[in-house]
Amino acid sequence: MKLSEWTTLRVGGEARFFLEPRTPEEACEAIAQMHRDRIPLRILGGGSNILASDEGFDGAVLATERMKSIWRQGDLLRLDAGVSLPGLVHDAIRNRQTGLEGFVGIPGTVGGAVRMNSGGRHGWFWDLIEEIDVADRSGARHTLKRAQANPVYRDGGLGDLVCLTATIRLQPGLPKQIEAKTAEILAEKAAAQPLTERSAGCMFKNPEGGSAGKLIDGSGCKGWSEGDAVVSEKHGNFFLNRGKARAADIRRLAARVQSAVQEKTGVSLHMEIVAW
Ligand code: EPU
Repeated sequence: MKLSEWTTLRVGGEARFFLEPRTPEEACEAIAQMHRDRIPLRILGGGSNILASDEGFDGAVLATERMKSIWRQGDLLRLDAGVSLPGLVHDAIRNRQTGLEGFVGIPGTVGGAVRMNSGGRHGWFWDLIEEIDVADRSGARHTLKRAQANPVYRDGGLGDLVCLTATIRLQPGLPKQIEAKTAEILAEKAAAQPLTERSAGCMFKNPEGGSAGKLIDGSGCKGWSEGDAVVSEKHGNFFLNRGKARAADIRRLAARVQSAVQEKTGVSLHMEIVAW
């Protein structure tokens, strides 16, 4: 399976094995089997924060995409890792539940949001979490309560653990208000970010107290390109695939931008996107 078909940047070569479990139980079995067979394993959610290598991956990729069950109990929702984040934001309006508005405009899955602690100025995914179920690399299942986890900016603190389900708590709300807030936040993001172009969101983490996008902009890198990989003219921290860019083009562009920012401002930027 070509990873370029599964990543929002549309880059990445073949994976040797591609696993698509439909339930957390099937995922645990697949993880256990890869562990027994000593096959390296990577977990793929929505593919929206990944830079997959042109050489592909000589191991197994486990895609959570088919793990989509949702259990609702009042304002508690237990979500399988493959549930789509944009879908969830829209369901919340229909279900009169508030708490997810700030996640509008973020692609990807619940598992990815847990892993990366997705979010921004309107809140972090871990703010909503009561507990998660994870698999360790031998395929054994465990429950982690919120208090047992240590999420920080752009890192849910899972380490090697694989997110299987997340139980989140929303609050009752008025559909009109939820809808208006969602629309307002989406308009704000659409004005600042190239949401309709092919990207994996922000390339670099924000440095303490600063904005990577602003530093890239101030260093004159907007519009820079390597092949079909381009630094967005709209938001400097978004790297776009405007055609047939390869992972190597994106890496070269990222390295050029890192050294320009370092030279101009003295700040070292660190990748937010996970390189495979
Ligand atoms: N700015 C510029 N030029 C640019 C980009 C930004 O001057 O090219 C300025 C803006 O005008 C603003 C400041 O930099 O004054 C911050 O920009 P913005 O509000 O767009 O937020 P950000 O810090 O660049 C972060 C997250 C985004 C998240 C937004 C909104 C990171 C790396 N980025 O961006 O997350 O959507 O806040 O909450 O933490 C992502 O991680 O993939 C991502 C998109």
